Amino acid sequence: METPTIDNSLATDTAIVRRFLDGATPSAHLNDADELEYLEKIAQLMTEKKAKLVAHYYTDPVLQDLAEATGGFVGDSLEMAKFGKEVEAEILIVAGVRFMGESAKILSPEKTVVMPTLEATCSLDIGCSIGKFSAFCDANPDRTIVVYANTSAAVKARADWVVTSSIALDVVEHLMDAGKKILWAPDKHLGSYLKKTTGADMLLWNAACIVHEEFKARGLENMRQLYPQAAILAHPESPDSVLELADVIGSTTQIIKAAQVLPNAEIIVATDQGIFHKLQKLAPEKTFIIAPTAGNDATCRSCAHCPWMAMNSLPRLYDSLSNEANEILVDADLAAQAMVPLQRMLDFAAENQLKVRGKA
Ligand code: 13P
Ligand code: SF4
Repeated sequence: METPTIDNSLATDTAIVRRFLDGATPSAHLNDADELEYLEKIAQLMTEKKAKLVAHYYTDPVLQDLAEATGGFVGDSLEMAKFGKEVEAEILIVAGVRFMGESAKILSPEKTVVMPTLEATCSLDIGCSIGKFSAFCDANPDRTIVVYANTSAAVKARADWVVTSSIALDVVEHLMDAGKKILWAPDKHLGSYLKKTTGADMLLWNAACIVHEEFKARGLENMRQLYPQAAILAHPESPDSVLELADVIGSTTQIIKAAQVLPNAEIIVATDQGIFHKLQKLAPEKTFIIAPTAGNDATCRSCAHCPWMAMNSLPRLYDSLSNEANEILVDADLAAQAMVPLQRMLDFAAENQLKVRGKA
């Protein structure tokens, strides 16, 4: 196995992440009556304004259910982008994090895209500023630039390809077969996984997801002793040592599909706990167990739950929709440039049957 080539000068400044986390206020819990009132008001507004809700699996279950009950969608980041582009709507409400709203706007410039909050960011996006990233690209002009979707519009605009976790392996394999050398940003764990699995020549940026980075291999090994029959499913943003223990590695949707088809009655899941809502709905006969985290890191306020995804709430959604506030706006030139690698990803996905990697 090759050692990953990570440029350590690019380490994310923990202080920067912490500053963003200080703004990540999760919403207060509503009582049942208030929740129902919000749901009714939002559903009515959505009809009046021809709005559709697209939510990520990590958001509050009440938002996931609302999306599905109103003709919207819950999915992984690739599917959210696809649905947002294809659905007929005047307003798209994106419940997730900022890059998801930006991708939706870039792919559907004619739609108004709003988010419950514009403060919901992502440590990978924070850890990849356009200034440093451009310098990295300039220093490596011989490489094809592949960036994870969890990045700003400006970073995407500089890329040849955008990928999400569900399509990253296939795109990297495709580029490797074409003899390309790759510059990858920003997730070092996903980058390292792609490099090891495909053997591609990849130079890696050095940022991480603060949620998945908390999963610990030692705790997972102990858990496997407790549940010897359980399958382990992991998101590829998790550290290498955790991925090595996994039976299946994939995007959130790929994890959900694997959980449904695997014969195991017990399933250990190394990703954000928001996914449990869908897992339990689709495979109610199975027992799902969250993989262990250390939980003591300074940046970890709520382990295995993304603090930015948790900022999405019914009251914030209601406010953004009723006032058409928190609109996502992307500079037209930047959007046109970022559209190219995003559309390339969607076209590639449409032409290829995407693979999920398990271990024999
Ligand atoms: P998915 O594309 O697998 O949903 O991942 C998005 C994400 O941000 C995971 O942390
Ligand atoms: Fe970003 Fe991690 Fe949150 Fe996903 S879970 S949005 S990668 S911080």
